[in-house]
Amino acid sequence: MAGVAMLSFVPKTLKPLVAPLLTIPNRRHYRGTAKHTLPLIKERLALMDRKDHDSTFDWQEPNDYISWHINLAKSTNTPRELDPVLISRRLLPINFAAIHTTVFTVTNTLLDLVGSDPARGYIPGIAEECSRVFASEQRQWSKPALARLVRTDSAIRDSMRISGFMTRGMLRKVTAPAGLANEKAGWTLPQNAFVGTDVYSVHMDPEIYQRPEEYDAFRFSREREDFEEKVRERENRGNVVGEGEREELLRLKGMGLVTTSETFLPFGHGRHACPGRFFVATELKMLISHLVQNYDIEPLPSRPKNKWFGQNVIPPMKQTIRVKRKADDTSPVPNAEMDGKAKGAGDGDGAA
Ligand code: HEM
Repeated sequence: MAGVAMLSFVPKTLKPLVAPLLTIPNRRHYRGTAKHTLPLIKERLALMDRKDHDSTFDWQEPNDYISWHINLAKSTNTPRELDPVLISRRLLPINFAAIHTTVFTVTNTLLDLVGSDPARGYIPGIAEECSRVFASEQRQWSKPALARLVRTDSAIRDSMRISGFMTRGMLRKVTAPAGLANEKAGWTLPQNAFVGTDVYSVHMDPEIYQRPEEYDAFRFSREREDFEEKVRERENRGNVVGEGEREELLRLKGMGLVTTSETFLPFGHGRHACPGRFFVATELKMLISHLVQNYDIEPLPSRPKNKWFGQNVIPPMKQTIRVKRKADDTSPVPNAEMDGKAKGAGDGDGAA
């Protein structure tokens, strides 16, 4: 990203000279990964090729990015994309899209939670929900079980709204020769212009979000929990759930982390909205649930400030929080080898 930012200041004619120097760190990263990925990619290409030509070859193609990439290159007749070196390079931006985003998001969520007034009861509220659902699922997470973590989901969602690391989203290049006209607003963008969305202003708009400057961990779950409770009570009294109630429930479920809209943009919106968001919602909920179930977390006196870098807002990555292992271990039942390691690593007091 540093390379991208610096190169954007370099005139187009100088880029062929400057880019090879600015991207030295990128090539170093690439070499570091290629020794692990290249042998696997070469092997996969060979196996897939053999399968293409020999229907009796007994081999199951793994369902992963490398297979998808190779199949796409073949189906679109793009032989350049079958070069193992190029495939191994393609893995790096995918890793970047997946890892930094997740790390910033979970760091922000933790800081938003730990930096909130303890009287608001966010962490105990999330811990109660996680323990209750986890216990009812024989201490094994599954997709439907994680979908029941509405408070945890809301805590991450409101953190992404208020502490999102991208203030400008959905950058697009105008490709139509006639440009892009916004008749209502009275402007036209020429071909090759870039256009994006001012995500920050949308997320901080008081007409969309009440008290937008406030982190409210249960902003999106409160109404849903209340409504679900009412429906449950009515059902217990023998009433049938009506069409209107079903629609309302659907609307409330639409306030979940993975639902993008014109008013919730941390994952973008529309055709190119982040495809990793379903994975990340699962990952983050399990992570937070593990933390709050297994550790007491000391509140911070205030929410540590994030730093603005141009249009990005990054959490303080050196900030520490104090945690203490709880007496009751509620983590999933791992295999014996991992059990030993996890216990050893987690014993006693500690700062993370
Ligand atoms: C909290 C974590 C994440 C956030 C906040 C995030 C955010 C975003 C955003 C804002 C975009 C651009 C959307 C647009 O331009 O309209 C995007 C695209 C993308 N993300 Fe994520 N992302 C996250 C995690 C992941 C993960 C875990 C993966 C992969 C496993 C992933 C893979 C991608 C890919 C491949 C694209 C490009 C989609 C396209 O252009 O069609 N992301 N993400």
